[in-house]
Amino acid sequence: MKPSVFKGAVAHRGVVVHALDDPLKGDYLQHFDDGILVVDSTGHVIEAGYAAQMLERMPDMEIVDHGDCFIMPGYIDTHIHYPQTGVIASFGSQLIDWLNRYTFPAELAYDDEENAHSGAHFFINELLRNGTTTAQVFATVHPISVDAFFTVSREHNLRMLCGKVMMDRHAPEGLLDTPSSSYEQTAALIEKWHGKARLDYSVTPRFAPTSTSEQLGFAGRLLEEYPSVRLHTHLSENHQEIEWVKELFPKSMDYLDVYDQHGLVGPNSIFAHSIHLNEREWKRMGEAQSAIAFCPCSNLFIGSGLFDLAKADRYGVQTSLATDVGGGDSFSMLRVINEGYKVLQMSGQNLNAARALYLATLGGAKALGLDNVVGNFEAGKEADFVVVDPKATPLMAHRYALSSNFDQRLFATLMMGDDRAIKETRIMGVLAHQRD
Ligand code: GUN
Ligand code: ZN
Repeated sequence: MKPSVFKGAVAHRGVVVHALDDPLKGDYLQHFDDGILVVDSTGHVIEAGYAAQMLERMPDMEIVDHGDCFIMPGYIDTHIHYPQTGVIASFGSQLIDWLNRYTFPAELAYDDEENAHSGAHFFINELLRNGTTTAQVFATVHPISVDAFFTVSREHNLRMLCGKVMMDRHAPEGLLDTPSSSYEQTAALIEKWHGKARLDYSVTPRFAPTSTSEQLGFAGRLLEEYPSVRLHTHLSENHQEIEWVKELFPKSMDYLDVYDQHGLVGPNSIFAHSIHLNEREWKRMGEAQSAIAFCPCSNLFIGSGLFDLAKADRYGVQTSLATDVGGGDSFSMLRVINEGYKVLQMSGQNLNAARALYLATLGGAKALGLDNVVGNFEAGKEADFVVVDPKATPLMAHRYALSSNFDQRLFATLMMGDDRAIKETRIMGVLAHQRD
């Protein structure tokens, strides 16, 4: 390596940990107890390794010492709704009632530019406080809500995906578009934002019950016309929802088939929830190489059901983790890991520290087709990372002191952590959030 590569490079020293691939397939969690992550002056990873060896090779680097904190890739939240921030933790209902009572009224306010901007600012600040550096985000039906979100994301130099909700029925008048207006508005937003700075567009029909077949057809046409955009929607979250889809689309074999018949099921598709899939749907998801956003906080909070990770693995379906705020009751991907662990325990499955960290980082990047640029510390990737304090609370410190090895320390930190454990969030090496 030429010495010039290290000009202006910064070495972050701590317990460096990242996933090189899915730990299900082998020993892919790499960690360096006294490690260093070297970031170049453009914000890209040069190398991760042992401090002693690297400092010998690169003696003149600036060093930022994070002590016994973990240095891990920034979390990737593959499914979240920014306009629902204000209705997080709303009492007492399940999906359809929850949408009508809380969600739709909150989304109506996002036709206002000022409200959308202040909502986007608050939301992004909250993501950074929680160590989330990339998210795939639902806006509302209003194009202005997408403009506000991408504008604020670009100001922070964040790698983000977002889309305007397409929704032409079964919602209040102020939240409806039409098949043709949703097509035109989405196409204009793709032209304006997709691939600009660190931003990508996701075509975002809300879910089958709020779109006519004609509108879903337009969503499919957009995917054909813009092959690098993503498809982001909900699938098979709640039994009442699934029955409703059967009534609305009697000619389809099942819920996934509704999307399939409109050209929405492929390798760029991410389906939130996917809790109650039948065998045919699982098989089709695997064949199509579509991905799932597993949202345990939301699935428990709005009483939707228990996701089956073992089945996703069996059918070769890429799984990622997501908060689904405001159905989910926390912005913290550490809380998501914690609740995910418990959901899997309920069906006799396990989620160890290596797999949990993978799902929250590289797994999310793979689901979103971003694993060439983020998700771990491979050379050349964008250095979005978090510094996680394993002794953030008295109880965490107590547990840490009684942990006898790296696995225990990491597992307890992932299980017990939340925003209090996020000491720093760095975007392309630059400090974007500091706890203290
Ligand atoms: N299904 C359709 N819309 C929504 C939403 O906003 N949140 C959740 N959790 N599920 C949905
Ligand atoms: Zn959702």
